[in-house]
Amino acid sequence: MHQPAITGTGVFTPSQIITNDELVAAFNAHADLYNAENAEKIAAGLLEPKPYSSSEFIHAASGIEQRYVLDKTGVLDPEVMHPWLRERDDDEPGQMAEMALEACTQALEMAGKTAGDVDAVLCAASNHERAYPAVAIEIQDLLGIQGFAFDMNVACSSATFGIQAAADMIRSGSIRSALVVNPEICSAHLEWRDRDCHFIFGDVCTAVLIERAEDAKGLHFLIKSTRCATQFSNNIRNNNGFLRRTRKDHMEDRRDMQFMQNGRKVFKEVLPLVSKHIADHMADEGVAATDLKRLWLHQANKTMNDYIGKKVLGRDPADGEQPNILQDYANTSSAGSIIAFAKYSKDLQPGDTGLICSFGAGYSVGSVILERA
Ligand code: COA
Repeated sequence: MHQPAITGTGVFTPSQIITNDELVAAFNAHADLYNAENAEKIAAGLLEPKPYSSSEFIHAASGIEQRYVLDKTGVLDPEVMHPWLRERDDDEPGQMAEMALEACTQALEMAGKTAGDVDAVLCAASNHERAYPAVAIEIQDLLGIQGFAFDMNVACSSATFGIQAAADMIRSGSIRSALVVNPEICSAHLEWRDRDCHFIFGDVCTAVLIERAEDAKGLHFLIKSTRCATQFSNNIRNNNGFLRRTRKDHMEDRRDMQFMQNGRKVFKEVLPLVSKHIADHMADEGVAATDLKRLWLHQANKTMNDYIGKKVLGRDPADGEQPNILQDYANTSSAGSIIAFAKYSKDLQPGDTGLICSFGAGYSVGSVILERA
């Protein structure tokens, strides 16, 4: 068996930012339009008026202050309320592949490696922009990587499940190295017209290079152990899929073809699931709370992270022990915990232990125990 290690990380951050105030102004203008268009039905009691959103609620409920997006013009246009992304020719790099190139290039540079050193590409994300060919194979081609590539989707846990898949292949010897890349265009599947969730997501792409530890050239983290778990739930769901046109009225503008969640239930059910998952994983690997120098958690909600941090450590996390990036990026699905890891790991000392944990739709939970080499 070979020892796998994360030797490089990369984060592509879009250039456009939407603050909570900008978002709420657009949403409230949209609500005014909606209420004016439906004034008769609302007056007749046939339809509920659309209520205003509020920046104060968003910050208090989630901790989010802003989000990065690929296009803010469409999202902030009260008559559009979704991003506009340029249609691409089949011979041009796709939107996801383009984001991935930047993140993967950063990860390779950090590790001091080139495409020739990589054996596989896993594109692990919540949504893929087409059914086939796999986005991962396009990324492989654009980077000039030999070997193989495939897409995988475990929603918010895609990155950690991808790390486990790649680490297992490296352990067993079928490959020497893999790029696990997470292009998340959450702005395109978020329902910006629904005030319960319109503030939740942002766009980003992360990448990690995983290699045999013996091949590492610089700063790297040994992957000591990984653990994945799933449990079916409809509380986070998106019904958009290839059967859509086979069903009557499914090509209409339907609410269930975008992200839907029962946030309260998610909150209540996912917290014990994740806390127990991490506690069991650590106990089985002989890692005590006092051994843990850092927790890089999924970035959905500050209160959730505070709760999990306290459960895992048995006390309130100290400053920097459980870094959050959600105030700047919002929820970026599978990429969130990897952004936190990429930005807040280089100061750890040799021998220090840290844990990445993602969780979300499925439900799904993935944890990765790392040791700074
Ligand atoms: N602005 C103002 N008020 C709002 C609002 C908004 N944007 N959105 C909802 N509200 C209102 C609700 O209508 C509700 O009003 P009511 O009490 O009169 O019914 C009240 O605020 C509370 O709403 P609720 O949805 O219960 O808020 P919450 O405290 O549960 O916070 C979430 C909402 C989404 C932040 C929270 O449930 C959460 O983080 N859940 C888990 C999310 C998660 O991790 N998802 C994973 C996605 S991959």
